[in-house]
Order: sequence, then C-alpha cells, then structure tokens
Amino acid sequence: MIIKTDIVIIGSGVAALQSAKVLSKKFQVHIITKSDIKNGSSYKAQGGIAAVTSEDDETALHFQDTIAAGEHHHAEMNVQTLVEEGKIAIQQLIHEQFPVDRHYDGKIMLGLEGAHSKQRIVHSGGDATGKTLVNYLIETLPKNVTIHEFEMAYELLLNIEGECVGVKTKTNKENRTYFASYVIVATGGAGALYEYTSNCPDSFGDGIALSYLAGANIADMEFFQFHPSLIYVDGQTRGLASEAVRGEGGFFVDEKGNRIMDGVHPLGDLAPRHITAFEIYKKRAEGHEVYIDISNIEHFEEKFPTITGICIEHGIDLTSKRIPIAPGSHFLMGGIVSDAYGRTSIPRLLAVGETACTGVHGANRLASNSLLEGITFGKLMAEELLQKGTIQKNFNVMKKAAKSIDVPSLFTRSTLQKEMIAKAGIVRNEEGLSDLLKKLPSFEQVAMIDLDSLGRETIEGIFMHVTASLIVEAALIRKESRGAHIRKDYPEKSREWQQQWIVFNKGNYDVRDGLYEQYQTTKNARAVF
Ligand code: SIN
Repeated sequence: MIIKTDIVIIGSGVAALQSAKVLSKKFQVHIITKSDIKNGSSYKAQGGIAAVTSEDDETALHFQDTIAAGEHHHAEMNVQTLVEEGKIAIQQLIHEQFPVDRHYDGKIMLGLEGAHSKQRIVHSGGDATGKTLVNYLIETLPKNVTIHEFEMAYELLLNIEGECVGVKTKTNKENRTYFASYVIVATGGAGALYEYTSNCPDSFGDGIALSYLAGANIADMEFFQFHPSLIYVDGQTRGLASEAVRGEGGFFVDEKGNRIMDGVHPLGDLAPRHITAFEIYKKRAEGHEVYIDISNIEHFEEKFPTITGICIEHGIDLTSKRIPIAPGSHFLMGGIVSDAYGRTSIPRLLAVGETACTGVHGANRLASNSLLEGITFGKLMAEELLQKGTIQKNFNVMKKAAKSIDVPSLFTRSTLQKEMIAKAGIVRNEEGLSDLLKKLPSFEQVAMIDLDSLGRETIEGIFMHVTASLIVEAALIRKESRGAHIRKDYPEKSREWQQQWIVFNKGNYDVRDGLYEQYQTTKNARAVF
C-alpha cells in the first residue's frame, strides 16, 4: 500500500504527540508506532517536567544545573533555548488547562529531584506525569492526525537530491510505503538494549538505527544514563522508584540499614545520577542488598500511586518501609544529531525527543529535563515547519546500491542484553568493549541487507545490533570518564576529551570540537552538520 501525506511521525511519545498537535493546524499528519500508542517511555515517566514556574527560580539556575549534571559537554545555545522556551511551553500547557498538581491554595506543587538547586519539578497525577501528559496530548489531536499502531518503520527513503521523502513500514499483514514532505523520527531511547531497564521492553533505538543506515550523523552514543533505583524483585527489575521519592526524604541503605550516600557527594541521595548509580552498582558488586528507606515519607501511597502499584503487584510489603532496588538503563543522551528545530544532517529528516541528540543533556541528563525537551523542541520544530515548511515535489527515490539477503550472525535478544550490561554498562573498559565490538556487525554488512523481505523480529534484531555497535564503539573511543560514561581504565575526566564529540556517519567517525560542524548564531540560527 502507498500513502501520500504531508508529514510522517515515527513514534508516539510526548515529543511526537506535541509535534503532531501543532503540525495538524496546517498539515495532514500520520503517526506510525510499532506498538500501541501508549507503549513508551513517556507514558511510563514518573518524574515530572523540570521548568521555571516560580518567582524564586530563574532560567539561569536551570541552565547551570543542566550544565553541571551533564559535566559541561553541551551545545550550550540549545540548553539556553530549552530552559527559556521550556518556560513558555509549560506556561502554555498550564494555560490550556493541563491538570498540574497544586496545593490547597492553588499554587503549583514543585518537587525536587537529583542535582536541581531549586524545587522546580511540575507533576500531574503525582508519579504519573508521563501518563497524564500522553493522555492529555492524545485527546487534543484533531481528525487530520491518523494513528497507525503496531506498524514498524524499517527504511527511510531519500530522493536523488538526498532529501528524505518517505519511509517503508511493516504491519502484521503487509509492507507499506509512505511519501511525505517531512519525516520526523521520535522513537525514544534504547534502554532495552540492556538487561535491566526502566524503558519499555521494545525500546531498541530503531529510529537511530534507521536514520544511521540512511546516512544521518549520530553522536554522543557513549553517554547512556543508568538510573540508580529500579525496583528489584527475584533477580529482575520491575519499573522505576522515582528520584522524587528521595526528593521527599527517601534515602539509600544497605541490608543493615547503613546509609550509602553519606560522605560521597554534597548532594547526598540527590547527587547526579551517574554518581548515585555508580555507588549503588559498587555496593551490589560487593554483595550487598540495596534499598530505599521510605520511613520519612508521610502518605507514601497517596504521593506515589504508580510505585505503590508496582510494589503491590510484585509482593513488596510497604509497611517494611523499604523498597529493594538495583540500577538499570534509563536514558540515552546521544542519538541523531539535530538542532533545536529538529533538523538533522539529512534534509527533510527531522528528529525530536530522546532519539535526537541536540546536546542539551551533555554527558548526563538532569532529572525531568526529558518531558521538557519533548514539549519544548516538539513545539519549536512544528512551529518552524508551520512557518517555513515547503511541500516536496521530487519523489524520485534513490535506489539502494546493492541488496543482499545475507543477515550476519546476530546475538539473541537476551544474550545481547546481557553482553551490553556486562561490557558496555555502568562501568566499561577497553577489554570488554573491544571484545563486544568484534562480535557486532559492521555498517557495511548491515547497510546492504534487503529489509523488504525480512520479518519484523529479524529487523528489530538487526536494529538492536546497529544501535548497540554505536554505543560500544563510542564508549571504546572516548578514553576518559565523564558523566554517565565511566571507564575503569580511564577513571578521570581528561582535558584532551573536553568538548569533543564523536560523530558517526555511514560506518566512519570523526572526533570534533562541536556537535555540529558550525553553528551560525544569527537571528535564524542554523546548524551546519
Ligand atoms: C525519576 O522519576 O526518577 C526519573 C525522572 C527522569 O528521568 O527525568
């Protein structure tokens, strides 16, 4: 089946829905999502939206906190845009009656999370902010937005001028081809490449893999954030125990009740995530069990209904006032190199949300900056297209050079997930990374495969390996520890690696002193990829 439209959005999280909401004012929009529309990290997000909404806070402080958490590895002009435009985007949502949590006097309740210097986290439905926001955005979508669930995008189409003009997909029954003036990739992260994750079990970084195979620049893949507190039962992680629990007075203890973060960092249990995740990892590696002690938190069940639900479902007795936890993969700071308007190195291919790399998260994302990124950059990108977007006329598609039906040997999903946590997880070293990289297929091996004739599971397996290989190779190249990238063999930050970006393109990489080749800071700021 062939479908012609204005805009195709791949993915259905907050960034995708916010973009669709704005774009639908002028354009026909199709959303393609490989599972059901509510299956995604946005929907599961327990944290809130970090933004300046109170008089005793300032965007300059939000900027500083973001830069400090990400250890100065940012595209700073995009961070500036995020905090300033984010303030406007949240005001707009509140003005439209998005139901944020309030005190009895009507003031917005503001939460505290790791590495924030002010209480600035806006919640909706307590620890169910992501769910409430996704539901709210879905309800606002008009009829000219068509949603295709359980449909998987597997190949981007470029015209002979190198512009993205469409995408091929697979449903359970058929292959489809969409032609569009713009294709937006908003497929979220890749947490499910690891054995323990807070993400959905099918978050494999598909959008990064298919954009890379089409020739897009990909960067910052060595920076994968691990969350210190995933609820841990019977050897498996079962969802998140939000940092907001520690913001309300929870703290990490071992099985004997000894506090773990005392003396480790001035912010204690609310230190940046790479610090807390590493401490918890070390404790567990020494054979200890780790818990969050919640005895200081009044009305826990009321404040944290989602976490309470997970605990009850998995037999955790909350009257013991302890939640067993372990660290796991949570957020990918890297992805498809994009600017604040979603523009990538491929004309008419846009990327937004976790799948994009705009340099706003640096080496480690500040808590609750991701829903903010989705609503802010989704809005900016869509408004830019409303103003300046043009209709594509050249659908003369470039043929793939050669096609092969040979799929290189791949790990099973669970073996790859175990390899990733062991060799490219919270702590990495040269030996493990180079061993794993040798076992992953190269760009050339994968780029030539004829995906039309393969099943969805096989394609997903290939995409997992492509995204994993980018993470592993970047982690091997960066010989220092910075933010979420911790190398046992290079435990310090290095001057040489400061402000250096590893940018992949078609099987090669460059180490550059900017995320972009150039950034023109004129009125119509534009990145040169
Ligand atoms: C959390 O609630 O701890 C996660 C929030 C986030 O990752 O931003």
